[in-house]
Amino acid sequence: MRYLIFSDIHGNLEALNALLKFAQKRRVDHFVFLGDLVGYGASPNETIQKVQALKPLAMIRGNHDKAVLGRDSIETFNPIAAAAIYWTRKEIARKNLEALSHLRRGPQIVHSSFMICHGAPFDEDYYIFGEFDAAEAFDYLEVPLGFFGHTHFPFVYTRRDGAVEGTFLEGNANEIKLEKGVTYLINPGSVGQPRDRNPRTAFAIYDSEARTVKFHRLEYDIEQSQKKILSHKLPAALAERLSHGI
Ligand SMILES: [Fe+2]
Repeated sequence: MRYLIFSDIHGNLEALNALLKFAQKRRVDHFVFLGDLVGYGASPNETIQKVQALKPLAMIRGNHDKAVLGRDSIETFNPIAAAAIYWTRKEIARKNLEALSHLRRGPQIVHSSFMICHGAPFDEDYYIFGEFDAAEAFDYLEVPLGFFGHTHFPFVYTRRDGAVEGTFLEGNANEIKLEKGVTYLINPGSVGQPRDRNPRTAFAIYDSEARTVKFHRLEYDIEQSQKKILSHKLPAALAERLSHGI
């Protein structure tokens, strides 16, 4: 099976469109989404509709999805993130709000073979930002492979003979081969809000037969995303950061 694993679209329709165009030309058996459909970007409705149309095999909620629903406090959100949540609450169509409300809480096990969560397997809102965090997360992993989002950094953590090691996947084309006896926690990066100083949209394809995970980075129409953000009078910093991947 080839699973397209994607996360953190954050209402960025142009970035999502680049991913969809790519997926049309490749064999993808299933789409698996790790949370944060909305927040930051100016196309929450179109993003939800397009992702739903893919009929993902599994889809879980992110903290921004919960915040738009009013199920999570936005006290921890910085002012520009909070502004985007307030705007999204006003813009979002009822049916799309309902779609958000049906997103499940992570972690989930997919096809009895891999785990997905938004933040960490022990707390959906926790950020895995280093080997110490990853070591704790591995203790909660029930299967040898897990995918997570939330940090917006493409990253691979391995646990080999009890030793945890993290690797940042720099550049635009990376592939890893999954080894037997090694446990993995993998972040595919963010579709719509990359934060690793690479503005390209990020996602990964897990091939369960070949035992590989390939990380992709694609250019997309950043200018159009920015124009929409500015035309809706969302904070200009939300548009600016897309050019830099920060
Ligand atoms: Fe996010």
